[in-house]
Amino acid sequence: MIRKNYSPPQNLLLVSGSYGLRLGVGVEPASCSMGGVEKRGYDMKKKDIQSLFDLTGKVALITGATGGFGRVVSMGLAMAGVKVMATGRSEETLEPLVEEIEKAGGISAFSAGSPIDHEDVKRVVKDTVAKFSGIDILVTAAGVNKPGSIIEQPLREWEMIIDANVKGTWLYCKEVGKVMIDQGRGGKVILVSSTRGMLGMANYTAYSPSKGAVSLMAKSLACEWGSHRINVNAIAPTVFRTALTQWMFDDDAFYKNFLRRIPIGRLGEPEDFLGTVIFLSSKASDFMTGAILYVDGGYTAG
Ligand SMILES: NC(=O)c1ccc[n+]([C@@H]2O[C@H](COP(=O)([O-])OP(=O)(O)OC[C@H]3O[C@@H](n4cnc5c(N)ncnc54)[C@H](OP(=O)(O)O)[C@@H]3O)[C@@H](O)[C@H]2O)c1
Repeated sequence: MIRKNYSPPQNLLLVSGSYGLRLGVGVEPASCSMGGVEKRGYDMKKKDIQSLFDLTGKVALITGATGGFGRVVSMGLAMAGVKVMATGRSEETLEPLVEEIEKAGGISAFSAGSPIDHEDVKRVVKDTVAKFSGIDILVTAAGVNKPGSIIEQPLREWEMIIDANVKGTWLYCKEVGKVMIDQGRGGKVILVSSTRGMLGMANYTAYSPSKGAVSLMAKSLACEWGSHRINVNAIAPTVFRTALTQWMFDDDAFYKNFLRRIPIGRLGEPEDFLGTVIFLSSKASDFMTGAILYVDGGYTAG
């Protein structure tokens, strides 16, 4: 109960203020000690809040950069002031992407290579460091799916999916991790998992386990690299409209049935993916690591 005309003692005011954000008040941070625990006040101005998301001058390496997610991430990060190294298996698709980014005022370069070839991955990482003097952000947007019953699916198809999704992610983490650790300035690693990394589905005995592995790779690396200030998180989207999933949008019965399970009432568009990438790339997520962020319109909520 709050007594009328009650005026709390000054030190109590400071303590209660220590848990709120005092926006733009421009006072020195207040601190006091209570029960042996240091309590701090915060002096937060508008520019401090904006700087939480400021990515200007950072360097990002994006795999699968010309894919549905990769393209929006490459363009979006570049428009946020990030120098973007785009990679994928084909120069023919990477070159126009880089031209498009530069035309829009961003800074970008490309280095082609297969994400599942260790020598290619080493070269792409080396090219990135040579071109932009380091790497601050890695986004692994290369990946593939091919549904099929376990009875019918050929082993080589299963291996192709596991390779692209798990081995490719692992190789990029390995090589970029070395760079980030040597740089000694921390880093942000963003892996692309899927809601299927948590939920099974008929005909998904390659894809679901591969994405489960990606989610656990994020958690394992979070444990391994926390002391280097390298945050490793995974984004787990539901169905988004990209080349990978166009068949789901084209199949009316599948589409309508799937839609019923999404509280927000629509499937994702690649742009829906970007905000989470910006957040996970920025200072705003410095205390978050090993998290799986479900960007799924509520699909996994209930
Ligand atoms: N779209 C969705 O609904 C959805 C939902 C959940 C998770 N995801 C995940 O998000 C990531 C990006 O998907 P997306 O929708 O952007 O797909 P996408 O448009 O098909 O792009 C994926 C990119 O991965 C690369 N890739 C494809 N097959 C490969 C292979 N066998 N080996 C190596 N690289 C290969 C390709 O790049 P290059 O040809 O240039 O090498 C391709 O552009 C994938 O990991 C996917 O599983 C997507």
